[in-house]
Amino acid sequence: MKIVMVGSGYVGLVSGACLAEIGHDVTCVDIDKDKISKLQDGIPPIYEPGLDKLIQQNQLHGRLFFSSDLKQSLNQAEVAFIAVGTPPGESGEADLKYVEAVATEIGQSMTADLLVMVKSTVPVGSCQKVEDIITQELSKRKSTHQATVASNPEFLKEGTAIGDFMQPDRIVVGLKGKHGEKEVQNLYRPFTLDDPGKLLIVERKSSEMIKYTANAMLATRISFMNDLSGLCEKLGVDISQVRRGIGADPRIGKKFLYAGPGFGGSCFPKDVRALLKTSEACGHQLRILEGVMEVNERQKKAVARKIKDHFGDLHGRRLAIWGLSFKPGTDDTREAPALSIIRDLTGWGAEVVAHDPQATESFKKEIGELAGLSYVDRAYDALKGADGLVLLTEWREYRWPNWQMVRNLLKGHNLFDLRNQYEAETLKEAGFHYECVGRPDSRTDSLLTL
Ligand SMILES: NC(=O)c1ccc[n+]([C@@H]2O[C@H](COP(=O)([O-])OP(=O)(O)OC[C@H]3O[C@@H](n4cnc5c(N)ncnc54)[C@H](O)[C@@H]3O)[C@@H](O)[C@H]2O)c1
Repeated sequence: MKIVMVGSGYVGLVSGACLAEIGHDVTCVDIDKDKISKLQDGIPPIYEPGLDKLIQQNQLHGRLFFSSDLKQSLNQAEVAFIAVGTPPGESGEADLKYVEAVATEIGQSMTADLLVMVKSTVPVGSCQKVEDIITQELSKRKSTHQATVASNPEFLKEGTAIGDFMQPDRIVVGLKGKHGEKEVQNLYRPFTLDDPGKLLIVERKSSEMIKYTANAMLATRISFMNDLSGLCEKLGVDISQVRRGIGADPRIGKKFLYAGPGFGGSCFPKDVRALLKTSEACGHQLRILEGVMEVNERQKKAVARKIKDHFGDLHGRRLAIWGLSFKPGTDDTREAPALSIIRDLTGWGAEVVAHDPQATESFKKEIGELAGLSYVDRAYDALKGADGLVLLTEWREYRWPNWQMVRNLLKGHNLFDLRNQYEAETLKEAGFHYECVGRPDSRTDSLLTL
């Protein structure tokens, strides 16, 4: 099939490269010309494990192309995906300006009947808007071509995006009536050979709602555990043991139950806020999700406050930070907890020296100039002369540090493990003051021996 992927970011690039990998003829389009020229040279503008090789291989085999010319790319295309950003508007609603601009251009340029798959996360009713815009543009130029607009939310996870796309749990497609069903089945058949039931075809508005509901549910699990982690700290209970105990129940499941510094990234906070806005516009109050966002904001503040409380005054203190991206495996720093925590720490007078294996450049762009913040290329360099180490993102390379070396480099032997990666006992033996999230640590009565 001849496919155009409009928007070559975290979602568009991975989806485009994977669709090329199974044999489709794919052109990824973006308005960012620098991005496109890098991609034409086989260089991905983002970090996603395996993406560079996948792109280069499919370019070499003549199945994957990059262009900033949507009109030309749409010529005789059968399927166009819209995978542009839907950032938060001024009051948290999803801003559809990029989606609408693409819909207009599609209506102005398509030269054959077209299946338009809306992959961007968009509020209920947006696919109808896309359909209206395209139909209007087609009628302006008296074109008789037909556009079938489908909702096709994406569930890939940054860091494991290629595997998620190639072996999906499910593929959700929302259609208005039956129109487009056969084309959708053909398009996705290679990804559902093991189980055709993975392709869930639902009503279009349900599909739009599924994406928001999935992200809202995952965010809820995280906030639920973060909320309880505060109570566990007061009671001297270990939230990790609680997690294991409840996660063994198949009705609950093991995933997304980790206490930490709060959720971030380009999806959960934005999508929960957008859903709250949708709900508000309908006069319905989503009380649980209001709480989810409130707990998340409180958690980011609480973990920063924990560090301040330990030192009392942060003026003249230097802190090493390990990890800036919102999770390991990606350079995405949009709404990363590190942004809020580092702003608080420097605001309270601390000097912060940060390291991340992949996300330093994107973090610099995201946070801008900030007095008191500097970066190093090697993790251990951040520790030199610091009063403490804060683990913010659990990249693999931070999992098993050489504690002796950490101790020798640090001036103050304080460790704030905001991802519960380390064992209190081990750190005690290595001579650290150790604090974590929702588990007994150096502050806990029940571990007075620490
Ligand atoms: N990042 C994720 O993990 C993820 C997962 C699932 C769904 N989503 C959703 O997918 C959508 C895209 O997210 P992303 O993270 O890939 O965003 P992104 O910011 O990485 O990429 C969006 C791209 O669209 C391009 N663009 C904007 N306007 C354009 C236009 N008129 N023509 C062509 N290109 C244009 C931008 O230049 C950018 O490169 C969002 O709605 C997001 O909520 C993201």
